Amino acid sequence: MSNGYFISFEGVDGSGKSTQISKLKEYLEASGYEVVLSREPGGTDIGEQIRSVILDPNNQGMTAVTEALLYAASRAQHVHDVIAPAVEAGKVVICDRFVDSSIAYQQYGRKLGECVRIINGYAIDGCMPDLTFLLKVKPDVGGTRIGSREKDRIELEDKSFHEAVYQGYESLQEEFSERIVGIDAARSVDEIFAEIKEYMDRLLKE
Ligand code: ADP
Ligand code: TYD
Repeated sequence: MSNGYFISFEGVDGSGKSTQISKLKEYLEASGYEVVLSREPGGTDIGEQIRSVILDPNNQGMTAVTEALLYAASRAQHVHDVIAPAVEAGKVVICDRFVDSSIAYQQYGRKLGECVRIINGYAIDGCMPDLTFLLKVKPDVGGTRIGSREKDRIELEDKSFHEAVYQGYESLQEEFSERIVGIDAARSVDEIFAEIKEYMDRLLKE
């Protein structure tokens, strides 16, 4: 992929991704960039249908492998229909979660191991973010921020699952330190955005 940029946001549920994404979109558009916002699971008609199946709290019987395959299926469609074409057309794609979520939640959270990376190799087909912002807050902070909002099937998992996801993200940040920027997201919205903006400006200047 050539002209545009692909940026992803990661972090535990309630870490503030949507809040920062909308600020970044506003900033980039004001600077003249064409921005495409998307999210996973979802981002396409097919992906949104897969999303409802995955997150439905009634689907308690879903196996971890089924779950991992469904996330990857949604991603394959998303890369093919939305991300790759937009980046090739010179746009900036900002995605609320991408493959790192599968590594954190399915490999580390569900303890599925390396098969998650193999499955996702087919889904992403070489398409990886140029930069990933990992918004770091402990799961209990994210949980408090979400508050009494109705929880989806993943958010309903227990504390040890969410701790394992958090640790998974820590490992990912170490493994991909060139691409993944860890941001202390326990601060105010504006302080967090100021740091994100610095990294973004640096990327756009390169
Ligand atoms: P995510 O997309 O990661 O689930 P959101 O951006 O939807 O997170 O934020 C979850 C909740 O926390 C929202 O009610 C939002 O207004 C609030 N929030 C976002 N950023 C902060 C922050 N830095 N400090 C306190 N609350 C925040
Ligand atoms: P979403 O509402 O998009 O996340 P958030 O609560 O952070 O705004 O819900 C998506 C859920 O799916 C979230 O709990 C993380 C989980 N998930 C995975 O387990 N694996 C994945 O590959 C992706 C993309 C998300």
